[in-house]
Amino acid sequence: MKRNLNPLFLSLAVTSVLALVTVGCNKPSESGGPTVGAIKIGEFASLTGKEATFGISSHEGTLMAIEEINAAGGVLGKKLELLTEDTQSKPGEPATVVNKLISRDGVVGILGEVASSRSLEAAPICQQNKIPMVSPSSTNPKVTETGDYIFRVCFIDPFQGTVMANFATKTLKATKIAIFTDVKSDYSKGLAKFFKEQFLKNGGQIVTELDFNGGDKDFKAQLTAIKAANPEGVFVPGYYTDAALIAIQAKQLGLNVPLFGGDGWESEKLTEIGKDSVEGHYFSTHYSPEVGSEMSKHFVENYRKRWGGKSPDALAACGYDSAIVLIDAIKRAGSTEGPKVREALAATKEFKAVTGTITINAQRDASKSAVILQVKDGKFKYLETVEP
Ligand code: PHE
Repeated sequence: MKRNLNPLFLSLAVTSVLALVTVGCNKPSESGGPTVGAIKIGEFASLTGKEATFGISSHEGTLMAIEEINAAGGVLGKKLELLTEDTQSKPGEPATVVNKLISRDGVVGILGEVASSRSLEAAPICQQNKIPMVSPSSTNPKVTETGDYIFRVCFIDPFQGTVMANFATKTLKATKIAIFTDVKSDYSKGLAKFFKEQFLKNGGQIVTELDFNGGDKDFKAQLTAIKAANPEGVFVPGYYTDAALIAIQAKQLGLNVPLFGGDGWESEKLTEIGKDSVEGHYFSTHYSPEVGSEMSKHFVENYRKRWGGKSPDALAACGYDSAIVLIDAIKRAGSTEGPKVREALAATKEFKAVTGTITINAQRDASKSAVILQVKDGKFKYLETVEP
């Protein structure tokens, strides 16, 4: 049995798609109001606030997938309606908006969030209500450990940390690294720990470990201490705004060693804020539009058409994949009942998606390759792919 809808999606012309869209930020949708009898899918994303570009990109990918499926006739004979809520990049909001999506709106599945701390807040609510949740790109292992209704379509940080530790050892040829962690973020703390484990295994030395709080503006005290420890590189597992400011201040202090991080760096804001201070630095992520399958090429073309020439980033691709994986499960389940969709999600095998082939493992994670990118002339240049 063919397990995916993709050929269907691929053959679509985006222009024919737009007329059929149903979406709303819980306001009447762009198509003029809620669609009667539609299957409601909830999405929670950081559309504003500190990590706004994460939510916006992820949402654009997700919405595009829903539009394509609707244009191809929907699923189980019905159209899909995407209800999107903004978490404002703030703690507390995920619980509020996901409760609303489930209790008030009656969504049958939830897509989100990008940031692990915010996925961790919403996951117990989805679990309790037996509403399957699929995170597009939260990589902290604890997210899916919440329970058997919680899935993701991306790799996890024990892998990402290993990838960057090996990169430091093999490509940077570094033996002495400093780690600078955002203690407000589960993602950052996890990734720092997994990086460290592997880097020590590689025979490397962590010369110092320092903390910051996501949203800080002044990192000079810690960067001065890091410089004094004389590292050959600094691992900064943070999000883009902080990473950019850290790069600027590191340069000002004459800390001229490579900085490198994980997927949290991925935003056009990294270079907008960091300018030449982020040049030459590296990060790992889920996807690059520069490489990939036929499906990925179609995705890039359609995304550019749909979103005014903008190139998709990893968040957009993961957002797209989260939606097609959930809808494929609903289709195979032949039902929108939580327990049935949950089972179908757990049985997802070799599903062709934009970011790679997705098989959901026993931990409800996807085992997938990572890519390493370098900031070059204000752009993210593809360097290499690392298989699990
Ligand atoms: N993986 C990050 C987290 O778990 C979120 C993220 C995903 C950021 C993809 C950028 C790109 O918090």
